[in-house]
Amino acid sequence: MNSIDRLLANNKAWAKQCIIDNPHYFQNLVGIQNPQYLWIGCSDARVPANTIVGLNPGEVFVHRNIANQIIPSDLNCLSVIQFAVEFLHVKDIIVCGHYGCGGVKGALENKKLGLIDHWLKHIKDLSLRNKVELEKISDFDQRINRLCELNIHQQVLNVCGTNSVQEAWKAGQPLSVHGVVYKLHNGLIKKLDLCISSPEDVKRIS
Ligand code: CO
Repeated sequence: MNSIDRLLANNKAWAKQCIIDNPHYFQNLVGIQNPQYLWIGCSDARVPANTIVGLNPGEVFVHRNIANQIIPSDLNCLSVIQFAVEFLHVKDIIVCGHYGCGGVKGALENKKLGLIDHWLKHIKDLSLRNKVELEKISDFDQRINRLCELNIHQQVLNVCGTNSVQEAWKAGQPLSVHGVVYKLHNGLIKKLDLCISSPEDVKRIS
């Protein structure tokens, strides 16, 4: 069986099982998309959004890119946020980074990777802004992990700074932004002290 045939066979088995469990499963999903959450995470294959938080199809709107970044010129990510906030009225936006992130590692090392260097430039800048703190950490893996946390903090601020989120708060729409980090070695998510529900909260963590 070639690689794509394996996926199609898996898909057939999955769809069949869903219908066995609930004959209306797909009919119910076709009608409306009404997720409570927007997830912004890393593309890393080991951090699949729905799976690690036990959510079914229909429960989370997802955007993933290398090193879970929200870059103000990235129309893709900004459009996802706008759609999720303005049209789906999600209640929570979760920025989930992960320790040992290859993108963060790449930004910290001075290797040339090609096009990706442009994408990682923002994290490089972040590492320079936090050079003093980062250089105090002698263990390189721990230094990467600290930069992973700093990156999540920055990306939470970036989400909060988008027009979509600002306008939602102005209109009194309930909306919180959370920063969390996933641990590859045990599969657990750790909350960082980053739960933002208003412009006042943004000032607290800026
Ligand atoms: Co990553």
